[in-house]
Amino acid sequence: MKNRYVAAATMLVAGLVYSGVASAHGTEKHDKHAADEQMKRLHAIMPMFSLVVADLENAIEKGDAAAVELQAGKMLRAIPDLKKSRPHKNVKQHKKFVELAESLELTLISTRLMAGKGDFNGARKAFKKVEEVCAACHVKFRD
Ligand code: HEC
Repeated sequence: MKNRYVAAATMLVAGLVYSGVASAHGTEKHDKHAADEQMKRLHAIMPMFSLVVADLENAIEKGDAAAVELQAGKMLRAIPDLKKSRPHKNVKQHKKFVELAESLELTLISTRLMAGKGDFNGARKAFKKVEEVCAACHVKFRD
Protein backbone atom coordinates (compact mmCIF):
# COMPACT_ATOMS: atom_id res chain seq x y z
CA MET A 1 0.00 0.00 0.00
CA LYS A 2 2.76 2.39 1.01
CA ASN A 3 4.76 1.48 -2.08
CA ARG A 4 1.79 2.14 -4.34
CA TYR A 5 1.40 5.57 -2.77
CA VAL A 6 5.09 6.37 -3.30
CA ALA A 7 4.88 5.15 -6.88
CA ALA A 8 1.84 7.31 -7.58
CA ALA A 9 3.48 10.36 -6.00
CA THR A 10 6.63 9.76 -8.01
CA MET A 11 4.60 9.55 -11.20
CA LEU A 12 2.76 12.73 -10.33
CA VAL A 13 6.00 14.61 -9.71
CA ALA A 14 7.51 13.17 -12.87
CA GLY A 15 4.41 14.28 -14.77
CA LEU A 16 4.64 17.81 -13.43
CA VAL A 17 8.32 18.05 -14.19
CA TYR A 18 7.70 16.70 -17.66
CA SER A 19 4.91 19.16 -18.42
CA GLY A 20 7.04 21.98 -16.99
CA VAL A 21 9.91 21.02 -19.26
CA ALA A 22 7.57 20.69 -22.22
CA SER A 23 5.99 24.10 -21.75
CA ALA A 24 9.33 25.79 -21.09
CA HIS A 25 10.58 24.21 -24.28
CA GLY A 26 7.46 25.44 -26.06
CA THR A 27 7.99 29.11 -25.15
CA GLU A 28 11.67 28.89 -25.91
CA LYS A 29 10.80 27.64 -29.37
CA HIS A 30 8.32 30.45 -29.81
CA ASP A 31 10.80 33.15 -28.71
CA LYS A 32 13.43 31.66 -30.92
CA HIS A 33 11.07 31.80 -33.88
CA ALA A 34 10.33 35.50 -33.25
CA ALA A 35 14.03 36.23 -32.82
CA ASP A 36 14.80 34.40 -36.06
CA GLU A 37 12.27 36.56 -37.91
CA GLN A 38 13.82 39.72 -36.51
CA MET A 39 17.26 38.54 -37.48
CA LYS A 40 16.11 37.65 -40.99
CA ARG A 41 14.90 41.21 -41.32
CA LEU A 42 18.37 42.46 -40.48
CA HIS A 43 20.00 40.06 -42.96
CA ALA A 44 17.73 41.40 -45.70
CA ILE A 45 18.43 45.07 -44.92
CA MET A 46 22.20 45.07 -44.51
CA PRO A 47 23.30 43.79 -47.95
CA MET A 48 20.93 46.37 -49.50
CA PHE A 49 22.56 49.09 -47.35
CA SER A 50 26.02 48.18 -48.52
CA LEU A 51 25.02 48.43 -52.22
CA VAL A 52 23.02 51.61 -51.76
CA VAL A 53 25.76 53.35 -49.76
CA ALA A 54 28.14 52.90 -52.72
CA ASP A 55 25.54 54.36 -55.13
CA LEU A 56 24.86 57.20 -52.73
CA GLU A 57 28.54 58.07 -52.54
CA ASN A 58 28.79 58.05 -56.36
CA ALA A 59 25.74 60.29 -56.63
CA ILE A 60 27.35 62.81 -54.27
CA GLU A 61 30.63 62.72 -56.20
CA LYS A 62 28.73 63.35 -59.45
CA GLY A 63 26.73 66.17 -57.88
CA ASP A 64 23.49 64.42 -58.83
CA ALA A 65 20.84 65.54 -56.34
CA ALA A 66 18.08 63.38 -57.86
CA ALA A 67 20.21 60.25 -57.50
CA VAL A 68 21.11 61.22 -53.91
CA GLU A 69 17.40 61.55 -53.17
CA LEU A 70 16.68 58.18 -54.76
CA GLN A 71 19.44 56.28 -52.92
CA ALA A 72 18.91 57.95 -49.53
CA GLY A 73 15.19 57.20 -49.92
CA LYS A 74 15.88 53.48 -50.32
CA MET A 75 17.63 53.38 -46.95
CA LEU A 76 15.19 55.72 -45.24
CA ARG A 77 12.31 53.43 -46.16
CA ALA A 78 14.07 50.53 -44.42
CA ILE A 79 14.58 52.41 -41.12
CA PRO A 80 11.26 51.30 -39.52
CA ASP A 81 12.18 47.67 -40.26
CA LEU A 82 15.71 48.22 -38.96
CA LYS A 83 14.28 49.49 -35.68
CA LYS A 84 12.18 46.36 -35.35
CA SER A 85 15.03 44.00 -36.17
CA ARG A 86 17.35 42.39 -33.66
CA PRO A 87 21.08 41.73 -33.72
CA HIS A 88 22.80 38.60 -32.31
CA LYS A 89 25.14 40.56 -30.10
CA ASN A 90 24.20 42.78 -27.11
CA VAL A 91 20.58 41.84 -27.70
CA LYS A 92 19.54 43.39 -24.39
CA GLN A 93 20.67 46.88 -25.41
CA HIS A 94 17.86 47.29 -27.87
CA LYS A 95 17.25 50.93 -26.90
CA LYS A 96 20.77 51.79 -28.05
CA PHE A 97 20.18 49.83 -31.25
CA VAL A 98 17.05 51.88 -31.99
CA GLU A 99 18.92 55.11 -31.20
CA LEU A 100 21.58 54.20 -33.74
CA ALA A 101 18.88 53.47 -36.32
CA GLU A 102 17.47 56.94 -35.58
CA SER A 103 20.92 58.52 -36.01
CA LEU A 104 21.19 56.80 -39.35
CA GLU A 105 17.84 58.27 -40.32
CA LEU A 106 18.91 61.80 -39.32
CA THR A 107 22.26 61.64 -41.11
CA LEU A 108 20.57 60.36 -44.28
CA ILE A 109 17.99 63.13 -44.13
CA SER A 110 20.71 65.76 -43.76
CA THR A 111 22.70 64.24 -46.67
CA ARG A 112 19.60 64.46 -48.84
CA LEU A 113 18.88 68.01 -47.67
CA MET A 114 22.40 69.24 -48.49
CA ALA A 115 22.35 67.67 -51.94
CA GLY A 116 18.88 69.12 -52.54
CA LYS A 117 20.30 72.58 -51.86
CA GLY A 118 23.15 71.90 -54.25
CA ASP A 119 25.65 71.89 -51.35
CA PHE A 120 27.67 68.81 -52.25
CA ASN A 121 30.47 69.66 -49.83
CA GLY A 122 27.87 69.61 -47.08
CA ALA A 123 26.42 66.41 -48.52
CA ARG A 124 29.87 64.80 -48.44
CA LYS A 125 30.28 65.75 -44.78
CA ALA A 126 26.81 64.45 -43.91
CA PHE A 127 27.57 61.23 -45.77
CA LYS A 128 30.73 60.75 -43.64
CA LYS A 129 28.42 60.84 -40.62
CA VAL A 130 26.21 58.19 -42.24
CA GLU A 131 29.25 55.92 -42.53
CA GLU A 132 30.22 56.67 -38.92
CA VAL A 133 26.79 55.51 -37.76
CA CYS A 134 27.11 52.27 -39.80
CA ALA A 135 30.46 51.64 -38.11
CA ALA A 136 29.25 52.59 -34.61
CA CYS A 137 26.38 50.13 -34.80
CA HIS A 138 28.62 47.37 -36.14
CA VAL A 139 31.16 47.83 -33.32
CA LYS A 140 28.42 47.36 -30.75
CA PHE A 141 26.02 44.91 -32.38
CA ARG A 142 27.71 42.96 -35.15
CA ASP A 143 29.57 39.78 -34.23
C1 HEC B 1 21.32 49.97 -35.91
C2 HEC B 1 22.46 49.14 -36.20
C3 HEC B 1 23.07 49.09 -37.56
C4 HEC B 1 23.25 50.13 -38.44
C5 HEC B 1 22.91 51.59 -38.27
C6 HEC B 1 23.90 49.56 -39.60
N1 HEC B 1 24.09 48.21 -39.44
FE1 HEC B 1 24.93 46.93 -40.79
N2 HEC B 1 24.75 45.42 -39.49
C7 HEC B 1 24.20 45.50 -38.23
C8 HEC B 1 24.29 44.21 -37.57
C9 HEC B 1 23.80 43.89 -36.18
C10 HEC B 1 24.90 43.34 -38.50
C11 HEC B 1 25.22 41.88 -38.31
C12 HEC B 1 24.11 41.04 -38.78
C13 HEC B 1 24.30 39.67 -38.25
O1 HEC B 1 23.91 39.47 -37.11
O2 HEC B 1 24.84 38.84 -38.97
C14 HEC B 1 25.18 44.13 -39.69
C15 HEC B 1 25.76 43.62 -40.83
C16 HEC B 1 26.07 44.34 -41.95
C17 HEC B 1 26.66 43.81 -43.16
C18 HEC B 1 27.06 42.35 -43.37
C19 HEC B 1 25.93 41.60 -44.01
C20 HEC B 1 25.13 40.81 -43.03
O3 HEC B 1 23.91 40.61 -43.24
O4 HEC B 1 25.68 40.32 -42.02
C21 HEC B 1 26.80 44.83 -44.04
C22 HEC B 1 27.37 44.76 -45.45
C23 HEC B 1 26.30 46.03 -43.38
N3 HEC B 1 25.85 45.69 -42.12
C24 HEC B 1 26.26 47.28 -43.97
C25 HEC B 1 25.79 48.42 -43.32
C26 HEC B 1 25.86 49.77 -43.86
C27 HEC B 1 26.48 50.13 -45.20
C28 HEC B 1 25.30 50.59 -42.95
C29 HEC B 1 25.13 52.09 -43.00
C30 HEC B 1 24.47 52.65 -44.13
C31 HEC B 1 24.87 49.78 -41.83
N4 HEC B 1 25.19 48.47 -42.09
C32 HEC B 1 24.24 50.28 -40.72
C33 HEC B 1 23.66 46.62 -37.64
C34 HEC B 1 23.62 47.88 -38.19
